Amino acid sequence: MNLRPGTPEDLPLLVQVDLEDEGVTPGYREGWGDEDFVVHRENMAAYLRDRDKGAIVAFAPNEPSIGLLMWRIRNLKNERLESWDVFSQIRGVWPPTGIVCEIFQLWVDPRFRRQGIGSALKLALDDVARKQGAELIYTHTEERNLHVIDLNIKLGYREVRRGTIWDDVIRVSLVKDLTARSIYGCIEHDH
Ligand SMILES: CC(C)(COP(=O)(O)OP(=O)(O)OC[C@H]1O[C@@H](n2cnc3c(N)ncnc32)[C@H](O)[C@@H]1OP(=O)(O)O)[C@@H](O)C(=O)NCCC(=O)NCCS
Repeated sequence: MNLRPGTPEDLPLLVQVDLEDEGVTPGYREGWGDEDFVVHRENMAAYLRDRDKGAIVAFAPNEPSIGLLMWRIRNLKNERLESWDVFSQIRGVWPPTGIVCEIFQLWVDPRFRRQGIGSALKLALDDVARKQGAELIYTHTEERNLHVIDLNIKLGYREVRRGTIWDDVIRVSLVKDLTARSIYGCIEHDH
């Protein structure tokens, strides 16, 4: 297994993985029309084009894509965050610069799971995020995804919030500090 940056040829992979949304409670795409799928494809393309977004793809011999991680950089200090926004609720863990890397998608082909590929993708992100100026990586997963929480904890992430975000599902927010500092931090519960 090896890793490479995503390229425009990976767009079908990004679209497929994000539409399958394994590990996420289904529902929010109910009622989507053709136009919604066009917008979705354009949103995925941005991860292969924009400077503040990216994708890391895992591959193996004769297997061009067996894993995917999508990320984006945000400067929280430059954003107008609503009070319901999860980042408003974890201000205590923001790095001084406000620059964080948010994981948008993590997926490994079912034929290749439990071989360390998901972990390798996330560890590779540490360097990518640092190079982009981020001092913190943020991710969340549904509370029921105990194995994903476990994976994150093993890689140095820590839980900073547990509660609802945009629907009724309880999600666990986890962060990894990319600097030596880890003096901030609080756990907030809202359920
Ligand atoms: C979550 C996912 C990316 C993990 O990828 P992976 O390559 O299998 O993960 P790794 O092999 O690196 O696992 C690292 C550790 O995570 C935990 N873990 C991962 N999958 C697990 C499982 N199915 N059951 C129990 N623990 C698991 C284990 O602690 C594992 O270490 P171990 O194998 O030494 O016990 C993969 O299962 C997947 O694509 N799932 C569907 C999409 C998804 O749920 N994405 C996350 C949404 S938030």
